[in-house]
Amino acid sequence: MTTTPAPFPAARPRRTRQSSAIRGLVRENTLTVDDLIWPVFVRDGEGVEEPVASMPGVVRRSVDKIVEAAQEAADLGIPTICLFPYTDPALKTADCAEAWNPENLSNRATRAIKAAVPEVSVMTDVALDPYNINGHDGFVVDGEIVNDATVEALVKQALSQAEAGADIIGPSDMMDNRIGAMRDALEANGHQNVMLLSYAAKYASAFYGPFRDAVGASGALKGDKKSYQMDPANSDEAIRMVARDLAEGADMVMVKPGMPYLDICRRVKDSFGVPTFAYQVSGEYAMIQAAAHNGWIDGEKAMLESLMAFKRAGCDGILTYFAPTVARLLAKR
Ligand code: PBG
Repeated sequence: MTTTPAPFPAARPRRTRQSSAIRGLVRENTLTVDDLIWPVFVRDGEGVEEPVASMPGVVRRSVDKIVEAAQEAADLGIPTICLFPYTDPALKTADCAEAWNPENLSNRATRAIKAAVPEVSVMTDVALDPYNINGHDGFVVDGEIVNDATVEALVKQALSQAEAGADIIGPSDMMDNRIGAMRDALEANGHQNVMLLSYAAKYASAFYGPFRDAVGASGALKGDKKSYQMDPANSDEAIRMVARDLAEGADMVMVKPGMPYLDICRRVKDSFGVPTFAYQVSGEYAMIQAAAHNGWIDGEKAMLESLMAFKRAGCDGILTYFAPTVARLLAKR
């Protein structure tokens, strides 16, 4: 700030808070439907919508129902839907081959959405955890999550997603060199326009608990993810990770989780000025829903406030399970 504010009573900051009209006039940030990415869970079957117990209001959908959700996104103006598969435990293996099966759930859902609702962009997740017998994002060899062999597999997974028609690929695995490897492979295989939204600063967080239920990975997970996901105590490291991923060819970057890491969002946006996203993760969603369902907070207001906070922190958009709810609310205003 270059100017010193006038002393009271010349300055009465409450003047510009006195009415809804004036508050609107001086409002610094806005939340719109354009800012939303809607994460959805895909499962097999037909006509299925199965509630996720730890995420009230969230369901796992069969592919036909995912197409309906994409149509709903289009009707509401939500620009992007992000797919996460709930994989049949029988298809989980140590070599994770289902991850690059052209016929896996994620790829079938992508093709079905692109055929029916092409205007909605599809984002997919690159990581081995939904397919891995031990729930890790990478291959486990003698107790170690190995980097380079995992990256080779992730490249195959990313290519199969691009072949299926994914618009945005979201590597959430936190292996080293995966963005560069995927970018090279996408360029070499005619997928110049496929975007990489890197989970660049992804922390080893307790807030992913409900998600692991939703994709059926919590029972499977052996140990923790601290040897690849970041230490919640670190901030400079996030800046190094974002710099690296941009240098390797990421088009957009993400901070994850969201609300406890708004300082990271702000630093990333200020340092790089690139499209920056935050993921309001499953545990954040579950906390707001649980408190609201108990009557302890006003769920609608808390939802809107939490999402506005991301915009204030410099984010261009938010991955949020609230996407359809907030889109409907914004449409009414
Ligand atoms: C998997 C992945 C996770 C999430 C997105 N992709 C879980 C994890 O890293 O264990 C979490 C999303 C959420 O909690 O909503 N690589």
